[in-house]
Amino acid sequence: MEEDVEGLGAISIYLDELWNSLTLVFEPVEIDSILKRIERHLSGVEILEAGLLPDKGPVFSEIEVTPRIRLSLGGARKASTQDQILLKSHLSFGSGHHPTTACCIRLMEKAYALRSLPMVLDMGTGSGVLALCAVKLGAERVVGVDISHVACKEALENVNLNQVAGKILLVCGSVEAIRQKGIFDLLLANLTVGTLRSLGPSLVPLTKTQGLMIVSGFATTQLNEVIKTFTACRLLAKTAEKGWAALLLERFS
Ligand SMILES: C[S@@+](CC[C@H](N)C(=O)[O-])C[C@H]1O[C@@H](n2cnc3c(N)ncnc32)[C@H](O)[C@@H]1O
Repeated sequence: MEEDVEGLGAISIYLDELWNSLTLVFEPVEIDSILKRIERHLSGVEILEAGLLPDKGPVFSEIEVTPRIRLSLGGARKASTQDQILLKSHLSFGSGHHPTTACCIRLMEKAYALRSLPMVLDMGTGSGVLALCAVKLGAERVVGVDISHVACKEALENVNLNQVAGKILLVCGSVEAIRQKGIFDLLLANLTVGTLRSLGPSLVPLTKTQGLMIVSGFATTQLNEVIKTFTACRLLAKTAEKGWAALLLERFS
């Protein structure tokens, strides 16, 4: 077993004897090929979680994610074009450089092309990037939630930087922080496969019946597993980049 694990190319390996689990850390390359390699080398193991490390992009960058969304990291203090979103973030996740963030933004554009979605919940807001994109695409009110204090602080800085404090409310916590059920037109959840598995059933009732959900943070090989978690939803669209996937779902019950 030890030899099998060493052959996988992980940059660090932790063995937790208490939980009988193994944590492997890899360079940020295509996740799908890593998961397939693990399944091939260590047949019979169960992958409990495939996590994401903060997506460190360059200190200054400008990326056009879609024709309507351009993310400017680290530099400007004032937006110079209509499509520009300014980000100061560097500790929390959400520079826009990770494929899961980009996939969510593309699906958000699809969702807003289908109908107007005024009330949005962004569960795991990180830098606030998706909440800011939602406002850009037409949301009237967005609630951004994160369990990390650092993320909430950085999201607040980014909200102020983009002068949308009247539209985005930030809450430090998780699903239990949202008391009112069934009020959101769109729910965004770029989390991890393990978190989606555990939070999934409590996330769905937060949206209106026929409300939309965009979920991401998992590999294309885990797609069916995630779809099974959201049994009260039907699949409207999916997208993938570098082995990471995202789904656009509609609640039907
Ligand atoms: C992958 S990042 C996504 C950040 C940003 N939304 C994006 O798409 O780039 C996931 C975020 O979810 C937060 N998170 C993890 N588990 C959570 C939970 N149970 N409830 C709320 N937030 C959570 C993390 O702190 C992290 O900021």
